[in-house]
Amino acid sequence: MAATEETAAAAATAAATATSTPPTLPRVPIPPRGVDYRGKIVLAPMVRSGELPSRLLALHYGADLVWGPETIDHSLIGATRRINPRTHMIEYTRQPSHSHSRSSAGDGVPESVIYRIDPAREKSKLVFQLGTSDAARAVAAARFVAADVAGIDVNAGCPKPFSVLGGMGAALLRTPDKLAGILEALVREVAPEFGVGISVKIRILDSAAETEALVRRLVATGITGLTVHCRTTLMRPRERALRGQLRMIADVCREAGVACVMNGDVESRDHAEGLVREYGVDGAMIATAAEKNPSCFRAETDGGLATWKEAVERYLRFTMEVENKISNTKFLLSQMIPGRVPQYKDMQRCKSYVELVQMLRHEGMEEMARETDRVLGLGEFGVKPEPKPSNKQKQQQDKQQQEKQGSNKRKREGSVEAEQSTKRVKVAGPTPVAAPASLAV
Ligand SMILES: Cc1cc2nc3c(=O)[nH]c(=O)nc-3n(C[C@H](O)[C@H](O)[C@H](O)COP(=O)(O)O)c2cc1C
Repeated sequence: MAATEETAAAAATAAATATSTPPTLPRVPIPPRGVDYRGKIVLAPMVRSGELPSRLLALHYGADLVWGPETIDHSLIGATRRINPRTHMIEYTRQPSHSHSRSSAGDGVPESVIYRIDPAREKSKLVFQLGTSDAARAVAAARFVAADVAGIDVNAGCPKPFSVLGGMGAALLRTPDKLAGILEALVREVAPEFGVGISVKIRILDSAAETEALVRRLVATGITGLTVHCRTTLMRPRERALRGQLRMIADVCREAGVACVMNGDVESRDHAEGLVREYGVDGAMIATAAEKNPSCFRAETDGGLATWKEAVERYLRFTMEVENKISNTKFLLSQMIPGRVPQYKDMQRCKSYVELVQMLRHEGMEEMARETDRVLGLGEFGVKPEPKPSNKQKQQQDKQQQEKQGSNKRKREGSVEAEQSTKRVKVAGPTPVAAPASLAV
């Protein structure tokens, strides 16, 4: 009897405790090799601007996570994975259809690197973003890279015609069932095997009600994170981001246990932390401010924004360490060097890493620059283009060409004549008749 009373009292106490404790919110579990986006200030996915050296620079200055540039599923399927023996980077490569570039590194195989990963410095920090419009292709592409990254993100916000016409990017915002199907397939067929989380990056829709319906559908797919770029598909990048729907999106994500990352006009780590508090989101993502100067990830208390010169010097070092394509390096330098300084124009004329470090007066980096030029076949190691012929040489070449064509024509006529005469021999009958080629045996 006493025992029964005690048990009943204990049960009553437990029930009272349970009702007085605030209900704990659900959380979609983060897979063992995955990352929780909560509390993170991250580098946005950026085609061209988010290549490996830019990501390393963002991490150097304190970015908590980095997204790689969107990569289309088609381009990954059929690619080759290799470890670069010189740099130890993981490289996904393809045979380009129209390239004549040959590295002077000795392998002699023309190929282009479509994605490059630093397995040490990006470890547990890199999120791979897929461009896709099909669940089966998304799974095939994601499986190919999942072991090398900490998360797979689906781009559902790119407004460019290439993406939208292919049913990818922002087109997926208008086909929520298809988008949810892609995310569910990745959650089911990639996340458990590779232990990484699946996430999505969207834009806001025209009305809060439409966005809410979309977000409710997406957070029920098993994803661990959702990033919202606070612009609609039709808004231009220069238009100010709209944050009116943000609190609602954060609430819907929180109810479902999915991390919510905000994006759009976030300028720096300190700015991001203020916005996270103000809107109740879990993290923030920076694109254009980081493209210009990735030291925006460094808090004021740790030194704040570095000068462009300091950031550029570090950037160049990373580009050479990973054998970055010089056209991409120059593109990024054109974002990082202010247009008003003379180095901006001087940089455009540089054709090799040696020229870049000399122009920027980074004397200590010349040896490294020469070695990078050697590997990439640039500057003194480049294949010199054939000198243009003079007018006189051109006339001579034209004459030789005409003579050659004339003699080829005569030869062809001769051989047709010979062929026809052979066929004539083969055709039986009193009058020799030329047989059509298709009938000649
Ligand atoms: C050069 C560039 C490339 C971009 N490429 C991608 C991309 O590959 N995937 C993506 O989801 N968004 C891409 N974006 C959009 C950004 O990730 C981000 O959503 C947008 O720039 C808004 O952030 P911001 O206001 O900080 O610039 C790109 C933006 C820029 C400027």
